[in-house]
Amino acid sequence: MKDQMLKVAIILGSTRPGRNGEAVSQWIYEIAKKRSDADFELVDIKDFNLPLLDEPISPIMGQYTKEHTKIWSAKINSFDAYVFVTAEYNHGIPGALKNAIDFLFKEWNNKVAGFVSYGSAGGVRAVEQLRLVMAELYVATVRSQVQLSLFTDFENFTKFRPAPYNEKSVSDMLDQVISWGGALKILRTKNH
Ligand SMILES: Cc1cc2nc3c(=O)[nH]c(=O)nc-3n(C[C@H](O)[C@H](O)[C@H](O)COP(=O)(O)O)c2cc1C
Repeated sequence: MKDQMLKVAIILGSTRPGRNGEAVSQWIYEIAKKRSDADFELVDIKDFNLPLLDEPISPIMGQYTKEHTKIWSAKINSFDAYVFVTAEYNHGIPGALKNAIDFLFKEWNNKVAGFVSYGSAGGVRAVEQLRLVMAELYVATVRSQVQLSLFTDFENFTKFRPAPYNEKSVSDMLDQVISWGGALKILRTKNH
């Protein structure tokens, strides 16, 4: 039964020293872990030490030559759904996150994603971009999202103190990710 549970990755998308993303993704993970309808794992892209994309063949072919790509591919392939925790850098997603996404293709296909963002305007501009990127990878994106403000959910823009009402947004987003994740898992089973 346990191995039939939906596997959801909470992907930490910023890599710089002192990043706020660590506290945000840990908070999401703690809330998610209390649920019994899916298995959750925190995936920190920093741990994978990916260089700027260095595969000679387009990822769409899945012919990886580098060990770091194979390790990243196996990790991402093992999930049914993703929750991206993203900062907003210059109104877009962090370059490190885009690079990590670009390394792979089929591993993402026919799965679902939800979003958690933070920034002065809740990081919403980064998520709008990320939704377009996901569309190219055949990833379905859910409507509910968690948007955290640097002004009201952090002290001095660095100490994460999420306002309590955000927990409802996390639950709504996870409900949708799990619901669509189950539907797309059936599709993937049929296709194979
Ligand atoms: C390179 C860079 C660009 C940024 N650009 C924006 C921005 O366009 N909009 C915004 O709301 N915050 C912006 N910020 C502030 C970030 O939202 C804030 O520093 C956040 O903590 C970054 O995430 P991180 O700490 O996980 O790296 C920027 C920060 C950096 C480092």
